[in-house]
Amino acid sequence: MRSVIDIVDLTTEELDGLIETAVDIIENPQKYSEICHGKKLATLFFEPSTRTRMSFEAAMYELGGNVISMTDAGSSSAAKGESVADTAKTVSCYADIIAMRHPKEGAAYVAAKAASIPVINAGDGGHCHPTQTLADLLTIYREKGGFNNLTVGLCGDLKFGRTVHSLINALSRYEKIKYVLISPEELKLPSYVKRDSIKSRNIPYIQTTELESVMPELDILYMTRVQRERFFNEEDYLRLKDSYILTPDKLQNAKKNLSIMHPLPRVNEISVSIDDDERACYFKQVLNGKYMRMALILKLLKEAGTI
Ligand code: NCD
Repeated sequence: MRSVIDIVDLTTEELDGLIETAVDIIENPQKYSEICHGKKLATLFFEPSTRTRMSFEAAMYELGGNVISMTDAGSSSAAKGESVADTAKTVSCYADIIAMRHPKEGAAYVAAKAASIPVINAGDGGHCHPTQTLADLLTIYREKGGFNNLTVGLCGDLKFGRTVHSLINALSRYEKIKYVLISPEELKLPSYVKRDSIKSRNIPYIQTTELESVMPELDILYMTRVQRERFFNEEDYLRLKDSYILTPDKLQNAKKNLSIMHPLPRVNEISVSIDDDERACYFKQVLNGKYMRMALILKLLKEAGTI
């Protein structure tokens, strides 16, 4: 059974195919509006979420399907000690596809091994978040027309920020990408991500703690929230949480066609006074996430022979 646990589960051709489907969905929504009639998506969220869960649910409704949800792990059998594998086996009896978020790295993999229906990882701890990357890719595609020749700045919590890990893997597959990794010392990109997705492909990158000095080079600036829930102590979080706050004055030397991205939720990282700047793309990412999740649900249900 085909599941998507990590962005590496999708080939570059498949990423391009999902973008093509999403663009077709945007242009011809009526063509897709009954395609999943009678089918059910189960959303299993063991961690907070607004966009990811609701966009999966909206995606399934817009495909003509239905949704069953477990939104509060505290009121599910997980609270009684049920394993992720048993939950996945159970939900396989009710639904056709699962979207699951869990605080433990690897939980979606365990669920996929046990389930008899496709599982989509909607975020597993500080590991990865492949469908946010799909949202990010469609946004970059629509803003920049493609993925080649981009200097991509990633700023904030590069250690625990799972969206960054998945995005780097995806973008590294394209031509002439350059990374500028901007973070405090303590929140640097994990060495496994650097090794597997950057160094192994000889992609140029610089690491810095300074945002303003690199600003003029960037085509994309991907801001991230410091991931409070992954810290072992509150003191460290409080010290690091406001390391980078993007304000209009910091954009003075930025390119006119810079794309400012953020997976959201934002805490303090981007001043609300930037929201009306035409370079701000973060609410576009939200909408693009729904289209890409529609494309992914369709692909997996087709491959499973469900539709
Ligand atoms: C991200 C996540 O859950 O990793 N949110 C999202 O799904 N859009 C980013 C974050 O929580 O900071």
